[in-house]
Amino acid sequence: NYEAKVDSLMNLMTLQEKIGQTVMYSGHWDQTGPFVGADNGKYIREGNMGAMLNAMSVKGTRDLQKIAVEESRLGIPLLFGYDVIHGHRTIFPINLGLSASWDLIMVEESSRIAAEEASAEGIHWTFAPMIDVSREPRWGRISEGAGEDVFLNNEIGKAYIHGFQGDDLSQPNTILACAKHYVAYGAAQAGRDYHTTNMGEGELRNVYLPPFKAAVDAGVETFMSAFNELNGVPTSGNKFTLRDILRDEWKFDGFVVSDYTSINEMIQHGFAKDSIDAARIGMNAGVDMDMVGHVYRLHLKTLVEEGKVSEAYINDACKRILLAKFKLGLFDDPYRYIDESREANTAYKPEFLAKAREIAAASSVLLQNNNKVLPLSKKTKSIAFIGPLVKDEADILGNWAAKGERGGKAVSVFEGVSEYLKANQILYAKGCDILNDDRSGFKEAISISQKADEIVLVMGENHHMSGEAASRTDLKIPGIQPELIKKIREANPNKNITLVLMNGRPLNLSDEVNLVDAILEVWFPGTMGGAATADLLFGTVNPSGKLTVTFPRNVGQVPIYYNMKNTGRPIPENNPKQDYKSNYIDVPNTPLFVFGHGLSYTKFRYSDLKLSSENLTFSNTIEASVTITNTGNIDGFEIVQLYIHDKVGSVTRPVKELKGFQKIFLKKGESKTVTFTISAEDLKFYNSDMIYGVEIGEFEIAIAPSSDFKFKHTFNLND
Ligand code: IFM
Repeated sequence: NYEAKVDSLMNLMTLQEKIGQTVMYSGHWDQTGPFVGADNGKYIREGNMGAMLNAMSVKGTRDLQKIAVEESRLGIPLLFGYDVIHGHRTIFPINLGLSASWDLIMVEESSRIAAEEASAEGIHWTFAPMIDVSREPRWGRISEGAGEDVFLNNEIGKAYIHGFQGDDLSQPNTILACAKHYVAYGAAQAGRDYHTTNMGEGELRNVYLPPFKAAVDAGVETFMSAFNELNGVPTSGNKFTLRDILRDEWKFDGFVVSDYTSINEMIQHGFAKDSIDAARIGMNAGVDMDMVGHVYRLHLKTLVEEGKVSEAYINDACKRILLAKFKLGLFDDPYRYIDESREANTAYKPEFLAKAREIAAASSVLLQNNNKVLPLSKKTKSIAFIGPLVKDEADILGNWAAKGERGGKAVSVFEGVSEYLKANQILYAKGCDILNDDRSGFKEAISISQKADEIVLVMGENHHMSGEAASRTDLKIPGIQPELIKKIREANPNKNITLVLMNGRPLNLSDEVNLVDAILEVWFPGTMGGAATADLLFGTVNPSGKLTVTFPRNVGQVPIYYNMKNTGRPIPENNPKQDYKSNYIDVPNTPLFVFGHGLSYTKFRYSDLKLSSENLTFSNTIEASVTITNTGNIDGFEIVQLYIHDKVGSVTRPVKELKGFQKIFLKKGESKTVTFTISAEDLKFYNSDMIYGVEIGEFEIAIAPSSDFKFKHTFNLND
C-alpha cells in the first residue's frame, strides 16, 4: 500500500525534485571526506536534498526537518543517517572483537541497544553493518567486520541487521540498516585502504558476495557501494555487481547509497572523465543516492534531458528512497524520532551498560595462559599495571565510536581493576606512549614491576591505528612498547607477566608469546571495557571468545587464513621443511594463532564424533554429533565449530570450511551432546560456469574447538 502512496506523491514531483531525493549532504558533525555541504538549508528548501548524514540530536534534526516539511514545496521529510557502527552512546567492542564472541544473540542485542540510543537522537538510518570479508590484517578496516570467514560474516551480518531494523520499521526505536561496502572492499591490494581489488568471479561469488546476499535475504533496507575498483570497474559504477547481481539476481528492492564521494572518485580511478560523466555512470550502474558528491544534484537532470540517463532510473531510485521513508513512518509523522524525553532518558541506561560489560567480556580472547597464570587472585599483595592503555578512557572505545564519550563515561582498565583490588595493592606506571619513542618512563615502570608480585601490561594500538584510512605495513605492537615488554621481562625473569592487548587487527606477537605468560586480547572493548577486562583477569567471567581472524607469525605470511587451498605441493606433515613444497624457508606455514582459537580457564574434551549416516543425498540430511565435557573446575562457555572439506571439486575447494557453530554453556564436570544437521545445501558453491550447486563425492567432516585439527571422518554425497 505504500507503493500507491509513493506513486501518487511522485506524480506531483518535478524531475529535479525526484533527483533531490537521491541527494545526501553532511551536517556539521564529523566528516570523512572533502565535500561538506555548506548550503544545507537552501538545498532542503529547494527540494534538492533527500537525506543527511552527521545530523542528529532532537534540536538539530527538528530544525532541519522543519525546513523540509514546512518550507519545501512538497514537504517531503528528510532521512537522517549516521555511522552507528558498534554502539551509539554505549559503545560495544569493535566489530571484529564482537565477532569473537560468536554470539549472535549478543550481536543482535548490541545493535538493538545502538538503535534505541541512536533513534532517540533523531537518527533513522545507520551505515552498518560492514560485512566485508577480509583476510588482510594490514587493512585498518578489518576491525569493522566479522573477520575472514564467509559463514560467520553471513550469520553475524544478519544478526546486526535484525537488531537495527527489528520487525517493524515504523516503530520509532528501529532504524534502517545498510550492508556495506558493496563489494570486495576487504580485498584491497597490499591492505592499503581504497586500493584496487582484482579477483576471478568464482572468488567474488564464493567469498565476498555471500554476506551481501545473506543481508538481502535478511531484509536489509539499504546497501552502500564501495570506494574500491573491482577488476577495473569502480564498485560505485559497477553495473555487473549493482544491477545484474544485486537487482536482477537477488531482487533487492531497497536503495543503494554511494560511499562518501565515491561516485566523484571514479574520476581519479580513471573511469569517468569528469563529474558529469561520474553522475551518468553512477546512476546508470544503479547507485540510487549520492553521498555528499554534489554530482547527482548538479548533473542528472541534464543527463536525462540529453538521453544519457534513463528517467526510469531516477524514478526507481526516488521511489525506493521514498518507500524507505514511508516504512519508517516519516510521512505519518516526520517528527516521530524527535522526542525530548526519549533523548534525555535513553543513553547509557544501566541495563545497556551492564550488557556492554557482559558483551565486552564475551568478546575477549585468551590467546595464551602458560602455567595458568590467569586468573589473578584478589589476595595478591601487589600487582603492577603498566602501559599506555592502563588508564586510557579514549582509545578503549576504538574507531567509529559514534557518539560514545571518551573519558567520563568510559571505564578504564585501572578503574576496572580498582573494583577488585584495594589502592595499596595496585602499582601503576604508564611506561611509555603508544607511538613516540620517549623512554623516560621506562625506569619507573621497571622499578614498580620489580616491587610487585605480578605484572599486568596493558598495551596495543591507539584507536586511530585501525578503522578507515589506517593501513599498516607492520603488524607489531607499535612504538617502543615491545622494547618495554622485553626490559620488564629481563628485570623479572621469574615473575608472572600478563599482556592485555587493545588493538583493531591481528598483530604479530611472535616475540611477545615468548616474553609473557598470558595474553588476553580485549580488542577495543568499549565503554565498559575496563570493567569487563577486570572481570576476566580476576576470573569472575571465564574467557570464551575465539578468534575470527588468523594471527600471522609475521607480515610476510599475509594473506594467511584458515580456509586456504591445498596447492599441488602441500607440505608433508612429517617433514614441513621438505624442498620444493609450498613452504617458506624462514617460518612455518602455520600462523601464530589460528582462526577459531581461544582459551578458557577450564578445559573441554571433545569425544565420540558420530554421523547418523555416511551417506547424504540431495533429499535427506545427516546429523553429526559430538560429546563435549567440561573437565576442569570452573563453569564455562565453549564455541563448538563444524568444519567440512569437499575433497574433489570441478573447481578446487578450500582445505576446510566453517559450516556451523554453537556456543554452549557447561558446568564443571558436565557433558553435552552437540548436534549439527547437514544438508546438500550446505555444500554448495559456484563452479567455473558460475552455477551455484553441489557436486557428489566424498567430504571430510570434523567438529572441533578451533580450525587447528586433522579430519578423521568422512561422508559421501550421492544423488
Ligand atoms: O559509512 C561510512 C563509510 O564506511 C566510509 N565513508 C564514509 C561513510 C559515511 O560516514
